[in-house]
Amino acid sequence: MEVIVLSEVSERAALAADAIADLLRRKPSAVLGLATGSSPLPVYDALVALYDAGEVSFAQARAFTLDEYVGLPAGHPQAYRQVIDRELASRVDFAPGAVRGPNGDTDDVPAACTQYESDIESAGGVDVQLLGIGSDGHLAFNEPGSSLASRTRVKTLTPQTRADNARFFGHPDDVPRHVITQGLGTILQARHLVLLASGGGKAAAVAAMVEGPVSASCPGSVLQLHPHVTVLLDAAAAGELRLREYYDQVWRGKPAWQGI
Ligand code: GLP
Repeated sequence: MEVIVLSEVSERAALAADAIADLLRRKPSAVLGLATGSSPLPVYDALVALYDAGEVSFAQARAFTLDEYVGLPAGHPQAYRQVIDRELASRVDFAPGAVRGPNGDTDDVPAACTQYESDIESAGGVDVQLLGIGSDGHLAFNEPGSSLASRTRVKTLTPQTRADNARFFGHPDDVPRHVITQGLGTILQARHLVLLASGGGKAAAVAAMVEGPVSASCPGSVLQLHPHVTVLLDAAAAGELRLREYYDQVWRGKPAWQGI
C-alpha cells in the first residue's frame, strides 16, 4: 500500500486524475469505479478540467458506482446515480448508458445485486476504483462487521453513517436505512484502488485501515490484501499513522516515471 501525504487538495486530486487520464489514453475503453461522498469531488473537477482542455475523453469508457440507497426514487437528488451524474458524468463525454449504479429503486433487491455483479464482470472488471473511507472505517457502504469476501448485497447503515450523511438530506430521519453496496470482495477485484481521505475526523479510521490488523471491524483494512493501493491523505487524516515519516521518505524518493 502506498501512502502519500500532501497538504494541497489540488495536488492529491491531480495525482488521482492524472492516473485516470493516463489510463484512458492507454486504454480508451477503460472501466472506471466511481465513488460518492465529498472526498472524490476534487478529482472529478480535475478530470473535467482535463476533459475541457481536450486532454482526455471518456467516449469509449464505462463506469460503475460503488453503492446506492435503497428506496430513493431514481431521480432523487441524493440518489448516488444522480450525484455521480451531477459531479462527473454530465460534465464529460460518457456515452449514454455507460455509467451504471446498483438499482436501489426496485422491489427485488437481491436480483439487482446479482445483476450488478454480472454487469461489472461482463465489462471486464474495474481498472481503477476511487474510494473514500467512512469515519467508522467503512468502504463504499460496507459497515464494520462486513465479510471481507462479500459481494454486492443489501446492508443496513449504522447510526454513525446515517448521522454523517444527514448533511445531504433535509432531516436525519430522511437518510435511508438500507443500501446496496459492492462487497469488499468485489472492490478487491478492481485492478488499482485509489483512496482519498482528509481531515482529523478520518485519522483513526485511516490508521486502522493502513496499520491496524486486517479485520472486519475496520472494513478499510481489507485494502492491505490488495497488490496496488494508493492512499492520498492530508496531514490531518494522516495524523495517527505511526510510520508517517517513512511514507514521506518513500514518496520523496520515488522515481518520477513510476506514477501511482
Ligand atoms: C459514504 C459513501 C462512501 C464514502 C463515505 C465517506 O458513506 N458511501 O463511499 O467513502 O461516505 O464520505 P466523505 O468522502 O464525504 O467523507
